[in-house]
Amino acid sequence: MGEKQAAPPAIELPAHYRDWKLISVAHEAGKLNDLRAILGNDQAVDAFRRKNLPFPDGAIIARLAWTYTPSEENNKAFGQEQSFVAGAPTNIQLMVKDSKRYASTGGWGFAQFTNGRPDPPEALKNCYSCHLPAKERDYVFTRYAP
Ligand code: HEC
Repeated sequence: MGEKQAAPPAIELPAHYRDWKLISVAHEAGKLNDLRAILGNDQAVDAFRRKNLPFPDGAIIARLAWTYTPSEENNKAFGQEQSFVAGAPTNIQLMVKDSKRYASTGGWGFAQFTNGRPDPPEALKNCYSCHLPAKERDYVFTRYAP
């Protein structure tokens, strides 16, 4: 009793994530074909800047993504086809550091949201295992873009 393992409470989308600081951007080609921005709350950004690993409890990293969309308007201005911009949002992924609660997954809680709603647990099956190659950097692939 008392020490029974309860499922950790579901991770919610933090209220002000859209105002967080930029860590870096990326583009995935292939099936995903998106543009993405990686943002962090103050604890996460501070750890990135000071190269202070592991990330402290309370750090949250958000990966936003949008469809990789050609911009006709911009291409006209440039006089050739070269411009791609953020289209519709695809999904949002979060990594939330709590070394006790998420001890079994490197101290990180993983979550994914589509249209602002959390995706079901099945969607989170491969998060941690795929982040294992970045173990040396506390399971975080993204490097801070100066
Ligand atoms: C197939 C491997 C793979 C899977 C599965 C995966 N990730 Fe990632 N993730 C990556 C790679 C590689 C990056 C860095 C490149 C990028 O931004 O796309 C990344 C980036 C991230 C980032 C930005 C921080 C960082 O580590 O760079 C977050 C947050 C994130 N993933 C969360 C998740 C969540 C939540 C899930 C499960 C729903 C998930 N990932 C599943 C490979 C994966």
